Amino acid sequence: MNRKRSASAAAPAGPCCFVIFGASGDLTHRLLLPALYNLAAGGLLPEAFSIIGIARGEKSNDVFRSDLAKSLQRFAINDIDEEAAGRLLAGVSYVNGDADDPATYERLAQELARVERARDTRGNRLFYLATPPAAFTPIGRHLGRSGLAREQNGMWRRLIVEKPFGTDLASAQALNRELLGVLEERQIYRIDHYLGKETVQNILVLRFANGLFEPIWNRDHIDHVQITVAETLTVGRRGRFYDAIGALRDMVPNHLFQLLSLVAMEPPSRFDARAVRSEKAGALDAVHVPDAATALRDSVRAQYVAARIGDNEVEDYRKTADVRPGSTTETYVALKLMIDNWRWAGVPFYLRTGKALKSRRTEVAVKFKQAPFAMFRDTPVDRLAQNFLIMSIQPEECIGLQFNAKVPGPGIAISGVDMTFKYEDYFDAAPSTGYETLIYDCMIGDAILFQRADGVEAGWRAVQPFLDAWRNAASNELAIYRAGSEGPEEADQLLSRDGRRWRPIA
Ligand code: BG6
Repeated sequence: MNRKRSASAAAPAGPCCFVIFGASGDLTHRLLLPALYNLAAGGLLPEAFSIIGIARGEKSNDVFRSDLAKSLQRFAINDIDEEAAGRLLAGVSYVNGDADDPATYERLAQELARVERARDTRGNRLFYLATPPAAFTPIGRHLGRSGLAREQNGMWRRLIVEKPFGTDLASAQALNRELLGVLEERQIYRIDHYLGKETVQNILVLRFANGLFEPIWNRDHIDHVQITVAETLTVGRRGRFYDAIGALRDMVPNHLFQLLSLVAMEPPSRFDARAVRSEKAGALDAVHVPDAATALRDSVRAQYVAARIGDNEVEDYRKTADVRPGSTTETYVALKLMIDNWRWAGVPFYLRTGKALKSRRTEVAVKFKQAPFAMFRDTPVDRLAQNFLIMSIQPEECIGLQFNAKVPGPGIAISGVDMTFKYEDYFDAAPSTGYETLIYDCMIGDAILFQRADGVEAGWRAVQPFLDAWRNAASNELAIYRAGSEGPEEADQLLSRDGRRWRPIA
């Protein structure tokens, strides 16, 4: 076994003040704080660092600090080094205010001035929008008008925007217009936490740091691509949010399209934010925009109904708290997409994602064209196994290749076998919530793992025909599937009518 290699050494980011809007929310406590702690413990935060939390409700700095300390105990993913935690929390303060009230920004300006003097953060500011999406536009406007996000005298000002970035093409364009009215594109970091996953980033390396894939990465050799994000989670307590959004909006234009664009993009001329993001946006831009009839034919939407998953009794989606009783919101979606360019013409990309499925599994499976069977016609071999390259993102982090091998013994018998590379066999993973890399990259000004305006809009442009076609179709288009199953039969038919099959989810 090889000796494992550890995470590459990186230098601490430069001084800055980290301003969190939505500081009392779940995202701040469950993910941002543990991620900031991991950065602090890993020596990646600067000495000159501070956090200002903004939320509604009077609270002293001490109370806010002790709230965060409790959350850290609860959500940290490894043992806490008290010294590192103490250093991080010592630089925390709190501003009370409504995101749409100009007075909030006056108080924030005063607090920034105080903190920047006291902690010498050099005027560099990272504003993190960890709020519900309705607050993105007002916060952007106020930051612009108050001058708090204006860059001057070498001080940088950056904004991280959480998902969902819009709920359709028009709203995403409107949000881009608003933000770009007050900030430069280079100041805006649109987050998609899938890009914080090492295995997602590795798709780029697998494709472009190895000479063997590129020559066969096209319609001459690839039969089709399957992208699966299967979750066992139900909608749970997110009924109100989810019922208005559904599986397509929640997962496809963002997470599944990150995977699709990394698989489908042309090789960038260099490893930088401009080149990589241009090629990713180019791939999404080439996704064929279907007419309404094709959109209905090439999509399946479904909702889960009650069943047991393991020891748990799952109730109908429609009985979830805060879900409308007659809701037609989909909790599962499968799509067939075509990419209109020379590399991919005629190669279907099948995408599926759903809640309350049999297993948790995120993977990209590239199916290569079948070898001609002719040579084996007069032998006992009756079929060949399929050649899949599988990039498994979670829960296993691995890359597997399936091919045919001779079964030992006299005569000829053939069996499909797997060759698998597991990350854990080669690398020691640093403790991660998935947000560390993204926060650190924003602090050092590297936008490669963030979405640019054109990429976000290209994603929405590709799903908009499905949203439109579904809206205009009768509700009986909605299929059902049992909780704990692999999804609806209709999704199987989407592939079987093309003579193909989904890989099992389990
Ligand atoms: C979020 C969605 O963006 O991603 C959730 O809103 C989903 O509905 C989650 O569960 C999946 O993320 P992960 O990292 O668990 O695959």
